[in-house]
Amino acid sequence: MPECLICKTYYEPFVNFGKMPIANGFLFEKDFNKEYFYDLKVGYCSNCHMVQLVDQPEREKMFNENYAFFSGTSKNMAIHFRDFAEGVINDYLPSKNAFVVEIGSNDGIMLQNFALRGIKHLGIEPSKNVAEVAVKKGINTISEFFDKDLSKKIVEEYGKADVFLAANVMCHIPYQHSVIDGINELLMPGGVVIFEDPYLGNIIKNTIYDQIYDEHVFLFSALSIKNLFDKHGMEIIDLQAQETHGGSMRYYIARKGMRKISPKVKYYLEKEIEMGLNAPEIYEKFRMECEVYRDKLVGLIKDIRKNGKRIVGYAATSKSTTIINYCGLNSNDIQFISDTTPIKQGKFSPGAHIPVKPYEEFKNNYPDYALLFAYNHSNEIMQKEKEFMNAGGKWIVYVPEIMVK
Ligand code: SAH
Ligand code: TYD
Repeated sequence: MPECLICKTYYEPFVNFGKMPIANGFLFEKDFNKEYFYDLKVGYCSNCHMVQLVDQPEREKMFNENYAFFSGTSKNMAIHFRDFAEGVINDYLPSKNAFVVEIGSNDGIMLQNFALRGIKHLGIEPSKNVAEVAVKKGINTISEFFDKDLSKKIVEEYGKADVFLAANVMCHIPYQHSVIDGINELLMPGGVVIFEDPYLGNIIKNTIYDQIYDEHVFLFSALSIKNLFDKHGMEIIDLQAQETHGGSMRYYIARKGMRKISPKVKYYLEKEIEMGLNAPEIYEKFRMECEVYRDKLVGLIKDIRKNGKRIVGYAATSKSTTIINYCGLNSNDIQFISDTTPIKQGKFSPGAHIPVKPYEEFKNNYPDYALLFAYNHSNEIMQKEKEFMNAGGKWIVYVPEIMVK
């Protein structure tokens, strides 16, 4: 039986999605025979409530100089991070001389807002190609993995931080205790940690199983985060639900007793217990729902193809890797996937090897159906694709329900 990465308790996996490739591992045909696969299995630790991947590919297999995810590809995310940064500046930066550290800073989508105001900042971004984009924008960035050792070096060179930020990266890191020890080294006594990640409550409620892939080692909840930080003398002081990535949670954490605790903390902890996130039954139900969702989506796609209609995937997201491979879809079902990221174009999707093509291929020859792999950017995309819909194009959507619209 696997051991919980947080508290070492043994647990049983509750779902096995089978062999999976690296979710962002878009590849050329010449590399098909070298492709890496691992077992995508998820378990729930009944001791500390952490939902986690059983096997984790090595970090360098995912985060390297060819990392395919550039945060700046979504305009709405740029607005989201501008608002996030403004909130931090207004509520948590004690003075003009404050120091902000962000891990997983990617192309600088968040830190650019601090850099623009001349606020002292540092981004920690191990994937060299995305870190370079940030550096070119004038954002102070080091290309390393954050952990306890690195935090000591940061303190020596830059001093202690007032705010520690992380968006869609805390849940990527299996060695949480080293990260939080590092945070404790780095943070001023009254400092605040603010991070957000896809929220377990939404994933379970809407069967958003495509949030489960190699990079997402943990699916966090208020319950599991409370237990985790408690081991390090820290506590949740506030929680804010976010609409990003199909439903995320932003956690505000401080050292115990240093800050006032918002009533929202109690509210979400109680809500999670009411929902049953602290009991194995809900995870068993989730597993069965994943199978139902898979069969429904596959049935819908096969029916459309039987009628001779063309389907193109819209956005080669990392999430789509789980959907495509778990559903056993291939290029007979989905002709190609359109994506705006240059590094993905001309390559093939991980595992199923569906061609990834520039957006213009979609735009210049609309398919009958577009399978929306970036449902989390739905507002932005629907706004942009009025012409496709006016031309009779239809969307296949699978979150929160499987439907054609
Ligand atoms: N914060 C951005 C990027 C999220 S993608 C956003 O929300 O859009 C996750 C990023 O975390 C990747 O760029 C990856 O290279 C980085 N990352 C992964 N492990 C890390 C670690 N241990 N320390 C710092 N960054 C890490
Ligand atoms: P996102 O949901 O953030 O990806 P992930 O599942 O990897 O977190 O979507 C980003 C991807 O979607 C990126 O490859 C670019 C692509 N994309 C488009 O192709 N067109 C668009 O209009 C948008 C918003 C994203």
